Amino acid sequence: MLTIKSVSKSFDNLSVLDTIDLHVKKEEFVSIIGPSGCGKSTLLEIVTGLIAPSNGEIYFNEENVTGTTNKLGYMPQKDVLFPWRTVLENVIIPQEIMGIRKKDAEKKARQLVEKFGLSGFEEYYPSALSGGMKQRANFLRTVLTDKRLLALDEPFGKLDALTKREMLKWLTTVRMETKQSFLLITHDIDEAIFLSDRIYVMSSRPGRIVKEVHVKEKHPRSNGFLLSKSFSELKNELLSSLGV
Ligand SMILES: Nc1ncnc2c1ncn2[C@@H]1O[C@H](COP(=O)(O)OP(=O)(O)OP(=O)(O)O)[C@@H](O)[C@H]1O
Ligand SMILES: [Mg+2]
Repeated sequence: MLTIKSVSKSFDNLSVLDTIDLHVKKEEFVSIIGPSGCGKSTLLEIVTGLIAPSNGEIYFNEENVTGTTNKLGYMPQKDVLFPWRTVLENVIIPQEIMGIRKKDAEKKARQLVEKFGLSGFEEYYPSALSGGMKQRANFLRTVLTDKRLLALDEPFGKLDALTKREMLKWLTTVRMETKQSFLLITHDIDEAIFLSDRIYVMSSRPGRIVKEVHVKEKHPRSNGFLLSKSFSELKNELLSSLGV
């Protein structure tokens, strides 16, 4: 579905990404882990067409989409809620852009608000939300784009451990219903293993792919998987490829 072909990126003299090749298949959940500053967010910005690679191409369903925006749903690492819009008004922006009637967009959003732990806060402005709540609102907005592939940059980074666990469990179930594909960036190895079918490990800057790991456990996954032998073996493998 998505192919990143020999992508390199430099900012002036700073080499950030070095010949990245990776792919995401239909309905697959793929994660990228790597040290801070290795170019993960830059790679996602290239995939979403927001910045141009110095070399290489991006293909989406066999079509060269390098530099093309709006092909996939994207949740950036930084908070992108508009301060002058309420939570509900913020999360329906992609649907508004697609020309869906406001009433219908709101109805759809309200159905998911509870799952995202935001019920009762629909009419709040972002300034009155906690960091974790803002992150969940950003995530809900991305989910509501209904795109076939969602690219998520550290979507759970600011969540407390319990909320995060709930969101992960929800995601491992919902992806089976929506049949969307995911490209997730995370620092959290446990999160990557729990969610993914495949995990790519990146080296420190300039980022290169140093390892690819398959997670064969079937979905939806339960908490028991976190305690299993196969989980800890995968975790060991990933930690050693990160050099920690
Ligand atoms: N627009 C830019 N101009 C110049 N340098 C940039 C730009 N964007 C990113 N960089 C540099 O590229 C490198 C990689 O940044 P990036 O944000 O992609 O890292 P990351 O892997 O996402 O890190 P983190 O895990 O901390 O989010 C950094 O050294 C950063 O300073
Ligand atoms: Mg980043």
